[in-house]
Amino acid sequence: MKVNPYEVEGKIDYDRLITDFGIKKITDADLKRIEKLAGETHHFLRRGIFFAHRDLKWCLDEYEKGNQFFIYTGCGPSGPIHLGHLTTWIFTKWLQDKFGAELYFQFTDDEKFLYKDKSYEEIQEWTRENMLDVAAIGFDPKKTHFIIDTKHAGILYPEAIKVAKKITFSTIKAAFGFKDSNNIGSIFYTAMQTVPVFLHNVLHKENKPCLIPLGVDQDPHFRVSRDVVEKLGHKKPAIIHAKFMPPMTGPEGKMSSSNPDTAILTTDDTKTIKSKINKHAFSGGQPTVEEHRKKGGNPDIDVSYQWLRYFEEDDQKLEQIYKDYKSGKLLSGELKAILIEKVTKFLTEHQKRRELAKKNIDKFILKL
Ligand code: TRP
Repeated sequence: MKVNPYEVEGKIDYDRLITDFGIKKITDADLKRIEKLAGETHHFLRRGIFFAHRDLKWCLDEYEKGNQFFIYTGCGPSGPIHLGHLTTWIFTKWLQDKFGAELYFQFTDDEKFLYKDKSYEEIQEWTRENMLDVAAIGFDPKKTHFIIDTKHAGILYPEAIKVAKKITFSTIKAAFGFKDSNNIGSIFYTAMQTVPVFLHNVLHKENKPCLIPLGVDQDPHFRVSRDVVEKLGHKKPAIIHAKFMPPMTGPEGKMSSSNPDTAILTTDDTKTIKSKINKHAFSGGQPTVEEHRKKGGNPDIDVSYQWLRYFEEDDQKLEQIYKDYKSGKLLSGELKAILIEKVTKFLTEHQKRRELAKKNIDKFILKL
C-alpha cells in the first residue's frame, strides 16, 4: 500500500493509515457532537467515509465558544473531474451550509504544471473547467473564495516564502519520497498549499480556526505544515479525512481521470454513464444467475454497491439492497440499474448547475 499526494496504490488499510499518519479515528461521540451542532448528520459521516481527523475537538470547542472556523480545501486542475473528486466537495458544502462557514477553495495550477507532463496552457484550460464543477456543487458565492495559485500569486507568495524558509529539503524528501531528480518547483510547492491555512487571518487580521476536509492522501502536506504555521504564529488547522471512493475497476487504489474507464466523469452523458457502469463496474456477483441465486453476491467488494453508499442517502433502502444482494435476490444487473439511475439523476442536476456556472464564475473568485 502506498498513500501520499502523488501516489495511491494497492489495497488501502485505513486503520494502518491512522497509525502511520498519527491521525485520530472519528468516534461515535464525535459523530453525536457534530450532529448536535449541525442539527443533522451526513451519510458520509454515518458510513465512515469521513473516518479520521486532527484537532476536530478543538475546532468544535472554539465554534461553541463563538469562534467560527473557516473551511479550506482544494483541487489540482490537471484533467476532468470524476465522481471521486466530489466526495470531499459535497461534504464541504454540507459543512458550509450547516455551520455557516466561509470557504477558501484553492486551485493549484502551479502544482499540476510542475508535476504533470502538461503545458501551462493546458493546465489553465483545466483550471477553468474544474472551477465550473466546483461552483456546480452549490457553494454560497458570498461565502466562497476561489484562490488560483498563479493568479493570486501576489498575495500568496509573500506568505509562501515565510513557510518555505522553515522547511528543509530533507523534510520534504521524507514526507513525499522525493529524490534529487525532482524539479525544484515541486520541492517548494507544499509551501503554496500551506498558505490558505492562515490566509484568511492575515487578510482580515483575525484569529479563526481553519478546518480542512480532504482525501487522506493529502494529509502529508499538512503534516509538514502544521508545525510550520505554528512557528509563524498561526494556529494549526483541524483536518477531517475522507477515504477514497473505489475505482470502477475494483476495490484497490483510487479513481483516476487519466484512465477514464476507471471513473465516471462529471461531463459524461446518460448513455456513457450507463455503458461505463454496465461494462466496467467491478461486480461481486456470481458468474451465472443460477449460482448467484444460490450463493448470493458480495456487496463488500461490489463497486456498484460501494458507490451506492455515496449516492443512496436513505439508510433503510441501502440496507435492503445490501441484504437482497447478499441473499441472491438482487442480481448484479439489477444492482447496476439502481446505481445507473442514481448517478444519472445526480449528474443531470450537476450538469445544469455547471452550465449556469459559466455565467457567474467570477462571483466565486477571490477579489485581489
Ligand atoms: N493538492 C491537491 C490536489 O492535488 C489540491 C489541494 C490544494 C487541496 N489545497 C488543498 C486538497 C487542501 C485538499 C485540501 O488535488
